[in-house]
Amino acid sequence: MSESIKQLLEWATEQLYSNSCSARLDSEILLAHCLDKNRSYLLTWPEQIPTIEQQECLRELVRRRLQPQPVAYLVGHREFYSMQLITTPATLVPRPETELLVDTVLELIEGRSSVDILELGTGTGAIALALKKHAPAAQISATDISAEALAVARANAHKHQLEIEFIQSDWYRQTESRLFDLIVSNPPYIAATDPYLSQGDLPAEPRQALSSGETGLEALELIINDATGHLKPAGWIVLEHGYDQQSSVTALLQDAHFKDIRTLRDFNHLPRLTLARI
Ligand SMILES: C[S@@+](CC[C@H](N)C(=O)[O-])C[C@H]1O[C@@H](n2cnc3c(N)ncnc32)[C@H](O)[C@@H]1O
Repeated sequence: MSESIKQLLEWATEQLYSNSCSARLDSEILLAHCLDKNRSYLLTWPEQIPTIEQQECLRELVRRRLQPQPVAYLVGHREFYSMQLITTPATLVPRPETELLVDTVLELIEGRSSVDILELGTGTGAIALALKKHAPAAQISATDISAEALAVARANAHKHQLEIEFIQSDWYRQTESRLFDLIVSNPPYIAATDPYLSQGDLPAEPRQALSSGETGLEALELIINDATGHLKPAGWIVLEHGYDQQSSVTALLQDAHFKDIRTLRDFNHLPRLTLARI
């Protein structure tokens, strides 16, 4: 039996309801993808009957969403800082809370004509690309240990016509002895033993993008301890971290002799980002 857009959305939302806290939104994104239209088309033409192929496409994506696969992997992209970014299972799905990191760095560099920024662990390139788009004069280098993630980041830079230097590197290793005005990172910070890693969409995302060891602080510690050798005088470090890692990150920064240490809260009022100056 043929079904209208409205009926298909109701069916998909009901199917996804138990698995996703954004069942209606997920359904709209999946159906819009199958129709090759945007979401407002669905609201404008609720009585339209999609083709059998389009209906089957939706059923298949709903089946995969229930596995669960993140919506971003099913449709192949995700919005970050108003940019549509190619997103694949090789990359973390960019999170809305990470936009705070971009806002914060843009404020720190406002009015500066030239600034060298190093992003560690770039994934889709979300942070580096958003910074370059809004601060075109900045020189941005971005590393990742994953060659597959870097291929996605490069494709995103090409898609948005933004020039970033991408380097395959284990944190700072391949950046040689270069010095930067800012080091920024959203590193893997979930403890390997945290049951959260086996919940929701997380099992589908690359483990090395989520966790770097037993405590969850391993990557943060390494990035902080080695930062002093890669920052220019008065350079900044800006780090995203878990909502419960504020005091650990602050202590690591103090031990590494950083000053002006400040933690900012995300849109859920959780301490999410800490910045400091050398
Ligand atoms: C939490 S994800 C952040 C991705 C992206 N910056 C974002 O905010 O959406 C962490 C990233 O760090 C990378 N990574 C993990 N270990 C690394 C290492 N030793 N050196 C460099 N990058 C690493 C992962 O591949 C992943 O892309």
